[in-house]
Amino acid sequence: MKILVVGKGGREHALVRALSESPGKPELFCFPGSDAIFEIAKPAAADGLESLVSWMVENSIDLCVAGEESYLVKNEGLANLCVKNGIPCWGPPKESAQLEASKEFAKEFLIRHGIPTARATTVATLEDAVTAINGEYPTVLKFDGLAAGKGVAVCPDEETATAFLDEIFTRKRFGPGRLLVEQCLTGPEVSIFAAVVDDGCLIFTPARDYKRAFEDDLGPNTGGMGAVASRQLLPEEMLTRINEEIVQPTVAGLNKDGLPYRGFLYFGLMLTPDGPQVIEYNCRFGDPECQAVMPLVSGDLAGFCLAGANGELKPDLISFDDGWSVCVVLASFGYPESSHSGDEILGIESTGDFRFYHAGTRKTANGKWETNGGRVLAAVASAPTREKAVKKAHQAADSICFDGLQRRNDIGILHFEK
Ligand code: AMP
Ligand code: GLY
Repeated sequence: MKILVVGKGGREHALVRALSESPGKPELFCFPGSDAIFEIAKPAAADGLESLVSWMVENSIDLCVAGEESYLVKNEGLANLCVKNGIPCWGPPKESAQLEASKEFAKEFLIRHGIPTARATTVATLEDAVTAINGEYPTVLKFDGLAAGKGVAVCPDEETATAFLDEIFTRKRFGPGRLLVEQCLTGPEVSIFAAVVDDGCLIFTPARDYKRAFEDDLGPNTGGMGAVASRQLLPEEMLTRINEEIVQPTVAGLNKDGLPYRGFLYFGLMLTPDGPQVIEYNCRFGDPECQAVMPLVSGDLAGFCLAGANGELKPDLISFDDGWSVCVVLASFGYPESSHSGDEILGIESTGDFRFYHAGTRKTANGKWETNGGRVLAAVASAPTREKAVKKAHQAADSICFDGLQRRNDIGILHFEK
């Protein structure tokens, strides 16, 4: 079987590794990939969406796996083009990927299907935004469009709200677009991943990511400084509730609205005092949650995704370890405001009961690895208990060294415990 994975980050490195460990030993390709991914998957000679799909046809690719989201909504849409060309795609078509690409679309979907979510008003002007906020703080402001993770502001007061409104409406930082003024929810956040195949789905191991740059969840938001995953992360009753009140109604809603879906669907949830509520949908696996979850998955992931892309949900092909997995992200100097490339990475050849996934690295001509982005590497380890997984993952992270390295030492500590 020939599989092509789309993306180049740590999530895709983890996906490619997991697919390569499938019993059928698939032949792997990637686009655009990274030096680390190229060690297990060959690069596709393409320079954009259309040429990628032509390349897949010419090279008889059996399955396209969408790692990152951007191609799902670009031009005609990756999955739409794959389907048109007879290539099974694990990832949804453009019309369904609006769940991630447009916050207004997602909010209307949630409300239409009675799925718990924060109240929100959509506005098109600064004046209407001020009216919608109505002097009530904290408030949450969300730009309605892809904004590279920078489009959401949780505003504790008028000053922060005014500054963000200025960026959106006056300086048009993200271009033209509408804004959601949303009720501010409170509670721990959890990431739930479902493999959705038409009207069925399988929930993967729940995870939590650590979005803030500094320990104790302080500092600016980042793409994620680490993650913890385990079936035991949530009490069984909470998982049942999430399935019944959120996951199943979402799958039913997609079918009711005629929105086809075959791929991973990520539910960003907040466990509020009133129960679990949806903060956002993403039409892909989480990053860095994927790096934490994949080591817990065994069986035939490649066969599972291929069957799913062909419309058959085959949960028996994979199983999930009951233990814990912890992923510690190592970021470069300046992250998240900037990043630093070209710092030599030492210790990457260390081996043990852990894995390193590469996110922002590159290999120099003399075979050394150096930093090449904000989030550089993830050190991941699993164990039957959380304490052991935390210790192993941090010990693995200790073996890596580069100038300006930043990491959080509290990855794996649960917010429920505080
Ligand atoms: P998003 O890009 O929608 O995932 O939002 C980024 C982060 O903003 C989330 O992970 C939450 O921490 C926070 N956030 C988003 N919406 C809300 C909300 N309604 N109430 C409180 N925090 C929120
Ligand atoms: N972990 C957050 C994300 O993947 O969007």
